[in-house]
This record gives sequence, structure tokens and C-alpha cells, in this order.
Amino acid sequence: MADYEAQIEHNILEHEEEEPSANTTRRAVLQAAIGVGVAGTVLSTLYVGAGLVPKKVFTPENEPLAAGDILVYAQGPNQNKPINPADLKVDVLQIIAYPMNPKTNVVKGSDPNNTVLIVKIQPSRLTPATAKGAVDGIVAYSGVCKHLGCIVSNWDPNLEQFVCPCHQGHYDPANSGKVMSGPPPKPIPQLPIKIENNQIIAMAFFLAPPGVNA
Ligand code: FES
Repeated sequence: MADYEAQIEHNILEHEEEEPSANTTRRAVLQAAIGVGVAGTVLSTLYVGAGLVPKKVFTPENEPLAAGDILVYAQGPNQNKPINPADLKVDVLQIIAYPMNPKTNVVKGSDPNNTVLIVKIQPSRLTPATAKGAVDGIVAYSGVCKHLGCIVSNWDPNLEQFVCPCHQGHYDPANSGKVMSGPPPKPIPQLPIKIENNQIIAMAFFLAPPGVNA
């Protein structure tokens, strides 16, 4: 672009020496040409830039969680096996889970935003809104911290709250995942669940978008 402008300026000066009477009109036309060239370059850059934004390619392993998905262990000796609600104890560290497509049995663990926390608390502690998406005190939430995206993997047994290990953000599983302390800007969204055939099933998508600042 700099070479292009320099060449046009050079041409203007050359023509000014040859034909002083036509200077004003010619300079205006050439400078307008520079303006058009700059604008065209900026638009081209924006267009090319937009084309470079990668589109997400969906695979069976990273499809978004959907109603009807079975929640399975994300890790440990029972990895990829359905979580049996009878195995959950009250006020014990949450289970990290992924959704599994019930038709294909593919576990959708390739998208971090599919990470789910499952914990059992005293049903009497649940707020009415939270109880709507819970069964026998079992509640499920997005596992992605709203602050910077760490997985909310710790549990405070005294406060009975989820704890993010990165900056100690605390969330209340009895009250819609509300932020109780720390830097997270929003609650982690609840995942409404039901129980069928001794399995925990997603009844719908999360009640709000999962992920950082979503
Ligand atoms: S990433 Fe969770 S509190 Fe910072």
C-alpha cells in the first residue's frame, strides 16, 4: 500500500511540472483514487478475515448435550458407564459426568461444555426452582466455571458447595448454582434430570448456556 501511494504522489508531481493549469483537478482525482484503494483494501481484509473464522465441525463425540442423553462417568474405573442414582450419597463430592447418546451409545466427551456435575443433597435444602429439575435430592449442573472455564471439581463439605479449584469460586447446588463467593460472574446453569431404569437422564438442555461468560 505504501509503494502504491508513493507511486501516485510521484505521478502527481510529474504532472504538476508538465501542466500547472490542470493541477487542482488532477490531484483531486488521484487522491480520490488513493481513498478508494485504501477502502477497498480494508474491505477485502475484513472479508478475508471473516472467512478465516473457523466453523465448528460437529462429530458424534462433540455434539451438544440433548434431552434423553444418559449421564455417564467421565473418569475413573467406571468411565463411560451410566451413573446409578443408588450409588450417590448425600453431601459427598460431585461426580463429573458426560452425556451419552442413548441411540448410538457414543459419549459426548469431546466438548468441555458438555461436562456435567452431579451431586446429591438433602431434598429439603433445595429451593423450589432447583427442585423442579432434581430427583430425590440429586441435582445436575454444567461443570464449566463461569470465570475462566476450569472444571468445577472440588466440594466444600462444610458449606455444601461446589468449589472451582482455579480461583476458589463457590457455587450453591441447592439454589440454582448461585455464586456464593469468588470471581465467577454468573451461576453455573442447572441441567434438569429424571431417573429411568436406574439411570440419570437429561430432561432438556441446560437452563442457560454453559461455558465461560455464556
Ligand atoms: S476459573 Fe473458576 S474461579 Fe476462576
